[in-house]
Amino acid sequence: MSAIAEENPQTTDVDFLPLHGTDFIEFYVGNAKQAAHFYKTAFGFQSLAYAGPETGVMDKVSYVIRQNKLTFVLTTPLKTNNAIADHIYKHGDGVKVLALMVDDATEAWKQTTSRGGKNYLEPTILKDENGEVVISGIHTYGETVHYFIERKNYQGVFMPGFKKWESNYNPESTGLLYVDHCVGNVGWNQMNPWVKFYEEVMGFKNILSFDDKDISTEYSALMSKVMSNGNGYVKFPINEPAEGKKKSQVEEFLDFYNGEGVQHVAIATHNIVETVSEIQKRGIEFLKVPDSYYDDVLDRVGKIDEDLQPLRELGILIDRDDEGYLLQIFSKPLEDRPTLFFEIIQRKGAKSFGKGNFKALFEALEREQDQRGNL
Ligand code: FE2
Repeated sequence: MSAIAEENPQTTDVDFLPLHGTDFIEFYVGNAKQAAHFYKTAFGFQSLAYAGPETGVMDKVSYVIRQNKLTFVLTTPLKTNNAIADHIYKHGDGVKVLALMVDDATEAWKQTTSRGGKNYLEPTILKDENGEVVISGIHTYGETVHYFIERKNYQGVFMPGFKKWESNYNPESTGLLYVDHCVGNVGWNQMNPWVKFYEEVMGFKNILSFDDKDISTEYSALMSKVMSNGNGYVKFPINEPAEGKKKSQVEEFLDFYNGEGVQHVAIATHNIVETVSEIQKRGIEFLKVPDSYYDDVLDRVGKIDEDLQPLRELGILIDRDDEGYLLQIFSKPLEDRPTLFFEIIQRKGAKSFGKGNFKALFEALEREQDQRGNL
């Protein structure tokens, strides 16, 4: 399972952009009220905060939901003719913001914009009776943006402008913990320019690379490079399509998202069998590999702590690298456009991304793509 290029993300250079992890992910959606209900019901998020006309925000509504260290903001415009409505018209529902936790949002913005990062939001102080949050932002691929969030002087529930969202409907947690990694799909020949962006503008390192020989079935080829920040808390793999016999899965995404964007969010759990059983029970569908995958998987990955039977029943995949193994599964797209999906991942030492599963997985994906008539 060794990859083509591997570098240790730890570096002796001073990290000019120290990150403490993902603060939140903001989705622009057509109907945030229904989306919040969906994520609470299916994935076990809890209501956290709300902003809208009742809190003095007149042009949009945002629901904030949380599960452990995983925070989603679901935002919808209240009227047409604005940037959010345009974003949804163009891309469908999708990820707009990957917000990163920093000690100093002003310094993060200065460091990144002075290295060529394109300004999205100049450092802005948001205040209320609970303190202040400093927020700044830069553009990344497509219309996606990175916010830098500094909340060390804030004691409120989420951010100024939001009020606590009390709800009588609180479905139980499914054990989702935090963002493990977030994958971007970019256009033909755009992977290396975006790798360079993460290296130069954000000080990330390329820790793993996959070429089309690693990641191709007969049809659905792609290339991928994994970018990581210094402490490894933030990992952004970047995919681009590769030539195959038929259309690449990345190309299908680009067609339906109408440009570059976030392909999947991988979410960590400590017990993937319990988490995925619960999420499946609540109606979420996952990609299925043929049952024969399980006949010889233990010959490939060696001994694991879990019983194979529940993994087989749920369709959970297994892979191993030099440091341990991992268990993972991929949802079907979360909206009607074949764009954003989730990965659920449990790491047992492994720091890689499941390369040994790519072939079985992409064949499963191609069957879905074929059913949509896009292969
Ligand atoms: Fe992934």
